[in-house]
This record gives sequence, structure tokens and C-alpha cells, in this order.
Amino acid sequence: MRIGFTTFSKPTREKILRMEKPPRHKYPLVAELTEAEHIGMVREIFSTITGKYDFLNHFLSLGQDIAWRRSAVEKMRFFRTYRFLDVASGTADLAIDAAQRHPCIQITGVDFVQEMMDLAQFKIEKRHLSDKIQLLMSDALDLPFPDNSFDVTGIAFGIRNIPNKIRALCEMMRVVVPGGQVMVLEMTFPRNRLIQGIYHIYLNRMLPNLARPFSPNPTAYYYLADSITHFPTPEGFVGLMGEAGLKHVQKHSLTLGITHLYIGTKPMSPRPIQSTGTVKPPSSR
Ligand SMILES: C[S@@+](CC[C@H](N)C(=O)[O-])C[C@H]1O[C@@H](n2cnc3c(N)ncnc32)[C@H](O)[C@@H]1O
Repeated sequence: MRIGFTTFSKPTREKILRMEKPPRHKYPLVAELTEAEHIGMVREIFSTITGKYDFLNHFLSLGQDIAWRRSAVEKMRFFRTYRFLDVASGTADLAIDAAQRHPCIQITGVDFVQEMMDLAQFKIEKRHLSDKIQLLMSDALDLPFPDNSFDVTGIAFGIRNIPNKIRALCEMMRVVVPGGQVMVLEMTFPRNRLIQGIYHIYLNRMLPNLARPFSPNPTAYYYLADSITHFPTPEGFVGLMGEAGLKHVQKHSLTLGITHLYIGTKPMSPRPIQSTGTVKPPSSR
């Protein structure tokens, strides 16, 4: 659903912390949820963890999330519109990195959780990037832009939270120009047995306990572990990008394969079904 432009009243970090909703104490497993329940849970989780979101991202990934976004931004190519769309922008780290790395572009960030966007706006203003980055509240499944509006669209750690991944990819592809890039940065459960064992313990036991003293909603970090464990394999996700109609899909393994960067290109003559959502994509994975 399209929600419209947000208005911001120069939020301060304290105000953002006060705005956070009280947390719930337990989340069901993603596999047990309907799509609508999953989306509702995602909205609730991200509205309760905003204040410490950036700190915990950097702390729990030992700063690797910064390097992962940087590697995406370095591979962006601007050639026609000089515009970048950051989907599920959250606190706008990808948008901010892109603005700093590519000073000649204009950026739009979209997200559907007001609390995340308020913090994003605060960060953008603090860095004097308001003339480069515009935020818009919108659902990734119904982007409020005409076809062929951007050279690049990217989604960092967002697609895992969207049950209908193909539809999100189709929307991202629709709004980029032919020859433009669709980039997805996402965490994956590693293949190597030894790393798998260590990572499983880290995700399911250590991470929620490490988050506990800092996060207003530490149970959200059980959801993080669950959603990473159930994300498609890198080969499976490359297949989904192909199903959405993207060409020349590349995957880049980052930090022992715990994160992957996927880059697909919109073909010069895309198939006609990639439309605003009036035509349903082939599946809802
Ligand atoms: C893990 S955060 C990632 C934020 C940011 N991209 C980053 O790199 O840190 C996931 C974000 O996806 C947003 N999100 C999830 N589903 C969405 C949807 N269908 N439409 C728009 N935003 C969505 C959430 O509100 C949240 O801000």
C-alpha cells in the first residue's frame, strides 16, 4: 500500500527513543506465519528497536555491516538518471554511504516504519545531506515511482523481511532504467560445516544475549536469527532474481559467506509482466 510523503519535525534522538512502542516478549517462527502476520511482525519489530538499531548492527557484526554496504556502493554505476533508490532504507545508512561516495547523484529512501524514517531523517540532517537524500514512506511492494526512474535500486538487509521476494524484486526492476542495476545485500547462513556450527551458536545463543543489555526489544534478535536461517541459499536467491526477470545476476560472497551482495541488470527489453503489482508475479516466495 502506498502511504505518502512523511513530515518530519526535526526529531532528536531522545524523542525517537520515547516514540518507540513497548516491546512484545516472544515472536513466532517465520515458518509458522502467514504473509500478513509476518509483515505485521516486521513492522512491530522495527518500530521497537530503532534507538539502538545502528549501534547493535555495528556491534553485533563487528563493524562488518559498514564494509558490506560500502562494497555495494562501490559497485553502483550511474549513467542516465543519476538517481538511486534505497528500498527498505531503515536508518538510511546505504543512502548516506551512496551520497558520500557518489556526490553527483540524487537519492530517495523508502521504508514503511515511521520510527526508522524519523531516525534516518535526523541522521541525514546532521550530515547536511538533505539536498541529496529525500525520504518517502512507502511499501517496497508498491513503489510510488514511474517505470525507469532510477539508474540503481538497492535493498540492504531488507528483503529477508519481505515474504513476497519476487514481487519486491519485480518492483525494484520496474523502476530502474533498462541496463540499470538491482542490488540486494543480505545475510545468509554459511555452507561450510565448521563455520555453520559456530555461526549457529552465535546467531541463536550469543546474539540475543549480547543484544539484551542494549536493545529495548531483545527478543527481536531471535527473529533475526530465524529469518537468516530461513533465507534462500545464494544459488536459490540468484534463481529468484532470474525469475523476476533480471539478467547477468552476480553474487559476491562477503566475510566467509555470512553475507552476499547480489547484482542483477534490467534487460533492455524486459518481459511485459513486470508491472506495478496489478499483474501478480509467478510465485510469492
Ligand atoms: C534490517 S532493516 C535494514 C535497514 C537498512 N537498509 C540497513 O541497511 O540497515 C529492514 C528495514 O526494512 C523495512 N521493511 C521491511 N519490509 C518492508 C516493506 N515491505 N516496505 C518497506 N520497508 C520495509 C523495515 O521497516 C526496516 O526498516
